[in-house]
Amino acid sequence: MSKTIEVTDLVKVYRNGVRAVDGISFSVEKGEIFGFLGPNGAGKSTTIKILVGLVNATEGRLLVNGIDITKHQAEIKRATGYASQETAIDDRLTAWENITLQGHYYHLSGRQIKSRSEEILKMFDLYERRNDLAETFSGGMLKRLDIAEALIHRPQILFLDEPTLGLDVQTRQVIWTYIERLRREQGMTIFVTTHYMEEADTLCDRVTIIDKGIIKAIDRPEALKAQLGGDVITVLFGDNGDPASVLEKINQLPQVLTIEKNGNGTNRIMVRKEGERIVPQLFALCDKEGITIDAVSLKKASLDDVYLHYTGHAMRDADESREMHSKARMMRGRARRR
Ligand SMILES: Nc1ncnc2c1ncn2[C@@H]1O[C@H](COP(=O)(O)OP(=O)(O)OP(=O)(O)O)[C@@H](O)[C@H]1O
Ligand SMILES: [Mg+2]
Repeated sequence: MSKTIEVTDLVKVYRNGVRAVDGISFSVEKGEIFGFLGPNGAGKSTTIKILVGLVNATEGRLLVNGIDITKHQAEIKRATGYASQETAIDDRLTAWENITLQGHYYHLSGRQIKSRSEEILKMFDLYERRNDLAETFSGGMLKRLDIAEALIHRPQILFLDEPTLGLDVQTRQVIWTYIERLRREQGMTIFVTTHYMEEADTLCDRVTIIDKGIIKAIDRPEALKAQLGGDVITVLFGDNGDPASVLEKINQLPQVLTIEKNGNGTNRIMVRKEGERIVPQLFALCDKEGITIDAVSLKKASLDDVYLHYTGHAMRDADESREMHSKARMMRGRARRR
C-alpha cells in the first residue's frame, strides 16, 4: 500500500499563541479509514484544516499524494474533499442549488455538475428531496448533504470532521454506511474525526489518540486494546462453599493480574489478556472443589478504556458539552469551504 498522507513534525501555533498542534507525525495509507480521536481542543480540526490547505502550518513537512501541500495547492484542492465540523450548507437554497454551487466552485462543466450532482444525491438518498430548501432538512439530512457536496469533484481523499456529531444512533449508522461504501466502491482514503468510540472501533482501520496537540497512540483498534490488556472476568459464586482456594489457584495463573471483591458480592478477576482462556479453567476448578457458579461475565477492554488510559478522562465527560456547543453553532449561512 502506498502512503496517501505523510505528516512529519507538524506544529501549529495560532496568532494568539495557542499551540494547537505540537509536533505530530503520522501517515495514512491509500484506501484507509483513519480516525482521529481526542478531547475538545486536542488539535483535530486544526490538523484537518492544515491538510486541506485552509490553515497554514507553523512547522512541519506535509505530503499529500507525495506532493508538498504548501507548494501545490491547486492539486491538493483537486485531490481532497472536506466536510467541516460545522456544516457549510446554505439553508436558503435547495439541496440541488447547494451541491451545484459547489460544482461551480471547482470549475466543473455544466454537464459534469448535473450528472455528478444527480449521482451523489442518489447515493446519499437525497435525490427525491433535491428541490426542497435545506432549511426543511433534518440534522442527519444536512450532514449527508454536506458530505455529498465534498464529493462533487471526485476527490481521492475525503476529510470528515465529526460527521456524526449530535446525530442519533440510527442516523450515525447510516452515515457510516455511506463512508464505508465510498471506501469500498471507490477506494477512497478517509480521514475522520469522531468522539464516538464504538464507531471508531468498528469502522476505522487505524485510530490516533491525540491530546493537547500530541499524539498519544496510533494503531489498529484491536492492537490498542490488546496492548492495554485488562480483560475483566466478573464471577458470582453460589453459596454452597468457600471459593477461597479456587480463587487462590486462579490468582497463581501467570495471566491473572489481580482479584478483587466487588461491593455486590461478585469477584473481579483482572486478566492481562485472553480472559476467554481463564473462564474454562475457573469452571474446571470449581467443578473439582464442588463450588457452583451463579453468574460469570467476560468483558474485553474497550476503546473507551484505551482512550481513558491515554488521555486521563473518559470521552463521555466531554460528550454533552460538546454536542450542545456543536448544535449551537451548527450551520446556517454559507461558510468558506472547499
Ligand atoms: N483560529 C484560531 N485561533 C486561535 N486559536 C485557535 C483557532 N482555532 C483553534 N484554536 C485553538 O486551538 C486548539 C485546538 O483546536 P481544534 O479546533 O483543532 O481542536 P479539536 O480537537 O478539533 O476540538 P473539538 O473536539 O472541540 O472540535 C484549541 O485550544 C483552540 O482553542
Ligand atoms: Mg474540532
